[in-house]
Amino acid sequence: MEMFDLIIVGGGPAGYNAALKAGHAGLKTVLIEKRALGGVCLNEGCVPSKALLYSAKVYDYTKHADAYGVTVTGSSIDQKKVIARKNKVVKTLVGGIGMQEKGAGVTVVYAEAMIQGKDSEGFKVAAGDKIYCGKQMLLATGSMPVIPPIPGLREGVESGFVMTNREVLDLEEIPAQLVVIGGGVIGLEMASYYNSVGSNVTVIEMLDHIGGPTDADIAKILLNNYKKKGINFCLKCKVTAVTADGVSYEDENGKPVTVKADKVLCSIGRRAVTTGYGLENLNVYMERGAVKTDEYMKTSIAGLYAAGDINGVSMLAHTAYREGEVAINNILGKKDRMRYNAIPSVIYTNPEVGAIGETEASAKAKGYDVEVVKLTMNFSGRYVAENEGGDGIVKVIVDKKYNRILGVHMIANYASEIIYGAAMMVETEMTVDNLKEIVFPHPTVCEVIREALFEVK
Ligand code: NAI
Repeated sequence: MEMFDLIIVGGGPAGYNAALKAGHAGLKTVLIEKRALGGVCLNEGCVPSKALLYSAKVYDYTKHADAYGVTVTGSSIDQKKVIARKNKVVKTLVGGIGMQEKGAGVTVVYAEAMIQGKDSEGFKVAAGDKIYCGKQMLLATGSMPVIPPIPGLREGVESGFVMTNREVLDLEEIPAQLVVIGGGVIGLEMASYYNSVGSNVTVIEMLDHIGGPTDADIAKILLNNYKKKGINFCLKCKVTAVTADGVSYEDENGKPVTVKADKVLCSIGRRAVTTGYGLENLNVYMERGAVKTDEYMKTSIAGLYAAGDINGVSMLAHTAYREGEVAINNILGKKDRMRYNAIPSVIYTNPEVGAIGETEASAKAKGYDVEVVKLTMNFSGRYVAENEGGDGIVKVIVDKKYNRILGVHMIANYASEIIYGAAMMVETEMTVDNLKEIVFPHPTVCEVIREALFEVK
């Protein structure tokens, strides 16, 4: 049995980042990962989907080049090459993490971890043919797709007809008919990709809007953009069955409809991974299927921390990084506290959606006295120059009582890169008057936020 200061189970963004921080701080750390470092984010989520979406963007540029005075003829997409490039990107980045862990002195064990329990020596975990003992332990086992008990769905997943986030990023042939169940983040990003590359895409969503908690005005603009691009949206529709070659649902009037599909993507949410690795041997407190953590990422058991999707709070890679850091800082005795009020979210559609903080609806529901500034993106010269026919907007939600920004929401390309600036406005709680003194570069898309600040009464 080998003794460690810290055992980390799971090598996704929470686990690998925590391991790096712990290793560099001098903790003897073992990181146990059963598949590949980088977790869902790097291997079958954030990064590979961005590689695909960038290929689609390049292809879209060629298709719409005319609008910018450029003639392109005969452009086409080679899906096999797109996937091969995506695999190369993933390989490079995963390899990079392995090197970094080595540099930090972290022992990486590629095996399935099985928690055996906790005794006076610490936490005992079996992996491969060894037992590891850690004075402290960080759980970072992530999440997996929810597969609801819809007749035929599980069978569809088993036969390969129904895909999850994993398989949809490896399709070497573009399906003629793609049906997407769930109009949330994964559903929209993948619907966007397959729409660009030529699939006939139908999105079935049970709510009356797409994009989940996205600001209502922004979600509406996104919906209209993709309706124009030819995606068929079935809102307020309940999927009743997955058949051998399609998906059946009840439309908003309860009328049964079946839509044919060559492939189906199931993207109706994810759930924390809490089984299959001996977690029950620790008897940790859980809520709604996730491990409950406090603001220091501590669980109900002394010395046991959890970070990332496993706590079900904010299933985003960037949240996971930060939670991992908070856990390590607390293990090291440094004061650090996780805050969730300024976590940016992005939907990498084309146009992109970037959001931070309260939406108009959530701010009002929480009782804030709000002022809402809504501006067309056409206030930005660069936006107009680069977006023929663009209909993007920015919305700034202001707390009138303290003259501070509660939220910023935008739909426009570069929103993914701009939104962190708005996150700083929320996180630092600067007043609108102070923010007005900040100089933005010109001409940029981000300066529309500055314009919006000057509209605040
Ligand atoms: P999601 O929670 O974003 O969206 C699921 C959607 O499915 C919701 O709109 C929901 O109303 C709908 N739905 C649920 N049950 C349904 C049913 N039976 N029939 C039809 N619609 C149904 O989940 P998604 O897209 O699977 O993403 C999972 C997680 O991955 C999320 O937590 C998301 O934050 C994260 N993610 C983040 C990305 C980003 O930050 N860009 C990219 C991809 C994923």
